Amino acid sequence: MRTLTVDLGDRSYPIFIGYGIRQQKALFDDAIHGKQVMIVTNDTIAPLYLDAMVSMLSADYKVDTCVLPDGEVFKTLEIYGNILTALLEAKHNRTTTVIALGGGVVGDMAGFAAATYQRGVPFIQVPTTLLSQVDSSVGGKTGVNHPLGKNMIGAFYQPQAVIIDTETLLSLPQRELSAGMAEVIKYGLICDAPFFDWLEQEMPALMSLDNDKISDAIYQSCLAKAKVVAQDEREGGIRAILNLGHTFGHAIETEMGYGNWLHGEAVAAGSVLAIDLSWRMGNLTEQDVSRSVALFQAAKLPVLPPQTMTLESFVERMALDKKVLDGSLRLVLLASLGDAIVTSDFPMEDFNDSLSDALEASKQAHIV
Ligand SMILES: NC(=O)c1ccc[n+]([C@@H]2O[C@H](COP(=O)([O-])OP(=O)(O)OC[C@H]3O[C@@H](n4cnc5c(N)ncnc54)[C@H](O)[C@@H]3O)[C@@H](O)[C@H]2O)c1
Ligand SMILES: [Zn+2]
Repeated sequence: MRTLTVDLGDRSYPIFIGYGIRQQKALFDDAIHGKQVMIVTNDTIAPLYLDAMVSMLSADYKVDTCVLPDGEVFKTLEIYGNILTALLEAKHNRTTTVIALGGGVVGDMAGFAAATYQRGVPFIQVPTTLLSQVDSSVGGKTGVNHPLGKNMIGAFYQPQAVIIDTETLLSLPQRELSAGMAEVIKYGLICDAPFFDWLEQEMPALMSLDNDKISDAIYQSCLAKAKVVAQDEREGGIRAILNLGHTFGHAIETEMGYGNWLHGEAVAAGSVLAIDLSWRMGNLTEQDVSRSVALFQAAKLPVLPPQTMTLESFVERMALDKKVLDGSLRLVLLASLGDAIVTSDFPMEDFNDSLSDALEASKQAHIV
């Protein structure tokens, strides 16, 4: 088992990574302080992993469960309210512990319920998708969507512990594995050039879920995220580098309709756009660009935007993105491979050329 700590003073917490560790009761015992536990999961994950967790914890705790409908469309105030209702109906008090068993949707919603139930009760993340293991379970962003915007309601609220069981990845659909890999590659690009090199070597092993390799990749990713979060918990500055490819990506996600392009797929195509722009500005070599494209492709991710989009649709969507400050579009770009910067200082002509060329290449790729 690998262990690391997210260093946030008295809100610091451990991240455990290992095969089968969702069955190690001692990890839970250390993070649970009361006698009540509420496991929140969804109806896809429940048949796979819920019973075993309930039996394990029932030996020492009063365990209740709350099974949500699966899907980003259910990441709403209404379904979040159902978690609070379940807690109240089962008479959970302020010493209860909420356990989020699932991907980022379950983690964000259960975390927000924990942040707000009786003004805050402890919670534990047990992320079961690669994306949630390397990204959403670490760093304390919790919340739900509003019809007018994604993740528009929420709180910063850190868990007591993150328990990452790599065995759960065995049941994950390949497309979801790829989507999570986009965020893994992101860490190499923004802050860890040696990790990027290592990913180039190991991507085939990672895609076939070699356990040692995937545990290392998750460890390095969590380490990168934990370091950034420790410096800037509430995204006043450096934490924004974690959004490489995300402003372009959100434009793709919203334009195509949520769910048609997975978040990680949109981030991959969006990162390639940010990388191309960084190259046009003279920050990267052509080889840096081709290596990055090849790495996303090795993870079975798209590297071009949808051919149905236009320059105008990108600009319109990106102008609405919450990262736009004072009217100027701020982007995460690379100063070099392994070093990101956040800036609104880029030539508009290069920005337009990056998008136009990629959209043209996407059209060509569909004609062939
Ligand atoms: N809080 C943060 O910092 C943060 C960061 C990134 C993303 N997010 C949020 O995370 C969400 C996306 O998370 P996600 O990619 O994990 O999606 P998800 O939670 O929707 O999970 C993807 C799919 O995989 C299924 N699944 C989960 N684990 C499985 C397993 N082990 N085996 C089989 N199927 C499994 C889920 O039921 C779902 O159908 C978005 O809502 C996004 O806003 C939050
Ligand atoms: Zn992301």
